[in-house]
Amino acid sequence: RLATTIYPDSELASVAVARQIADLIRQRAAEGRACVLGLATGSTPTRLYEELVRLHQQDGLSFANVVTFNLDEYYPMPPDSLQSYVRFMREYLFDHVDIRPENVHIPDGTLPLEQVADFCRRYEEQIRAAGGIDLQVLGIGRTGHIGFNEPGSGAASRTRLITLDHITRTDAASDFYGEENVPRRALTMGVGTILEAHEIVLLAWGEGKAAVVKRMVEGEPTDSVPATYLQRHPNVRVVLDEAAGAELT
Ligand code: F6R
Repeated sequence: RLATTIYPDSELASVAVARQIADLIRQRAAEGRACVLGLATGSTPTRLYEELVRLHQQDGLSFANVVTFNLDEYYPMPPDSLQSYVRFMREYLFDHVDIRPENVHIPDGTLPLEQVADFCRRYEEQIRAAGGIDLQVLGIGRTGHIGFNEPGSGAASRTRLITLDHITRTDAASDFYGEENVPRRALTMGVGTILEAHEIVLLAWGEGKAAVVKRMVEGEPTDSVPATYLQRHPNVRVVLDEAAGAELT
C-alpha cells in the first residue's frame, strides 16, 4: 500500500513538504552536487512554491545547485500566454529565487508538430544526463492522471504528446475562460518517466480529490487510473489534507 500522510490542512502539509525539499537541496549543496527536482503546476503546489520562495528570501535557501524538469505543458502554448506553465513557474517560483535559467526545463509548447517527437526524446535524455530526478512532486487529476497521463496511459509510457481527457478540459475551463479555449493536447512526461524518479511526493487537497485518491491508493494498478502505477514505486509518499483522505479505509 502507498504510504500516506494526512495533515489537518493543506497549509501545514505544504510547509512540511517545502521543508523536505529545502533539506534535500541543502544536503546536495553540502555534498557539492546538483539537486534535480521534478515539478508540477496547477492549484495544488502553489502554497508549496510560496513557502520555498519564503525559505529563499528569509532563510538563505539557495537554488544555485537546483535543476528542474517540469512534468508537462499544454500544446500548443506560447510561453507568455496567461495559461502557460512557463509563466506559472516564473510567477510562483523561478522569478523569486536564484535558480540558473539554464537549469530550468519545461516541455516546449511552441514546437511545430514534426519536431515534437525529437523534443520528447531529448527531454528524456536531459533528465538522464542530469543523473535522473531526485525528487518528483506530483498532483493528481480527477481522471487519475499524473502529469497529463490520462486514462489509457501505460506504466511504460514515455514523454510524448497526448490528448487531454474531457474531464481535465472541464477542470481547466475557468483558467481559459471557457472549455472551448482549452487546448486539446499536451506534452507530458510518461508514467515510465515519472516512475524512474528516485523519490516521489504526491499532493492532493480537498473533497474533490477524495474518490480518485482512494482509487490510487486502494485500487488495482490499471491503465484506466494511471496514478495507481505509483504503487509499483518503492519510494512514494502521498500527502493529503483531511478532506482528500476522507474516503481511505
Ligand atoms: C500539472 C500536472 C497535473 C496536475 C493535476 C491536478 O503539472 O501535472 O497532473 O497536478 O491536474 O491539478 P490541480 O492541482 O490544479 O488540481
